[in-house]
Amino acid sequence: MPTLFWTGKLSLPLKLMVNFGCLIAWITGNAQNTSAMKQRMKNGYNGKYSEYIHHYDEFGTSHYTKISKKLIEKVDCKEKKVLDVGCGTGILSLMILEKTVEKLICVDVSKTMLEKCKQKIKAEGFNDGLIEFHELDAEQLPFDDNSFDVVFLNMVLGVIPNHLSTITELTRVLRPGGTIAISAHGPKHYMEAIEAGLKTMTIRYFFGHRFEFWPKGENEVLNLFIKTGLKDIHTERIYWMDEFKNGREAFDFFAATSSLWWYEKLPSNLREKETEKTRAYFQSKMITSISSDVVFAYGTKQ
Ligand SMILES: C[S@@+](CC[C@H](N)C(=O)[O-])C[C@H]1O[C@@H](n2cnc3c(N)ncnc32)[C@H](O)[C@@H]1O
Repeated sequence: MPTLFWTGKLSLPLKLMVNFGCLIAWITGNAQNTSAMKQRMKNGYNGKYSEYIHHYDEFGTSHYTKISKKLIEKVDCKEKKVLDVGCGTGILSLMILEKTVEKLICVDVSKTMLEKCKQKIKAEGFNDGLIEFHELDAEQLPFDDNSFDVVFLNMVLGVIPNHLSTITELTRVLRPGGTIAISAHGPKHYMEAIEAGLKTMTIRYFFGHRFEFWPKGENEVLNLFIKTGLKDIHTERIYWMDEFKNGREAFDFFAATSSLWWYEKLPSNLREKETEKTRAYFQSKMITSISSDVVFAYGTKQ
């Protein structure tokens, strides 16, 4: 059973509203249906609800480059067999390849994201034999126990419903002595954008399934690592503001990197209208700064 209530930072009225929705989702059984949640997320990152996902790199590269650089700087990848889970368009994957690894396996639940990752890596001219791409769910990896020296999970944990089983699965495929390195959405991550997005939503299309984004504090991530039996654990939380020229640009960043998966129940003919309404709200309220709150965690398999 995944976490029920949403614990990210938000104004009190909206937090109550979100958690009331989570409660309804629990009563109706939607909160327990993790496969439906994953499907929504997969559809979102496949561009089913919005074209914005095709602009992930255009609007999100600077943000994810900053996080990926920080995540990889503490990890030795040289001549290692590395797994990048939820690789997205390959922002971290390309940095891993620069470290002359023995092998890199990129996996993502979204075919669209994975295809983009593949194209970018091919364009850089890396040897085909060095890399594999697989469309997979992080919680069900078809790899043998103890297969990898390093496993990365970069800004993915918060969009998967079962956190402990995800970290357990990543640890299973890691060899003893190998390193797991993750970055996770902290409680204040995107809080201004989430607040504005919730204020403009046509609420009847969103109530009833839970708020499928689960930020984690540093201690929560630490506890997940401890429960999984990892050792030599190190965590760090970093906070900064991403600044945009205007509200429209801030919205574009939010929409492109989040995939707007919560538009699932919105009739397809209303999605564009909803997008424009929210974008106009960002602009009129001058939402030009968005919090980035990221928890980094490293551990070693016993
Ligand atoms: C915010 S993006 C991060 C992508 C990439 N790691 C980066 O740093 O740019 C989240 C990614 O997680 C993927 N994802 C979501 N749920 C997943 C799951 N259950 N298993 C594997 N990947 C998943 C999405 O398709 C998306 O590419």
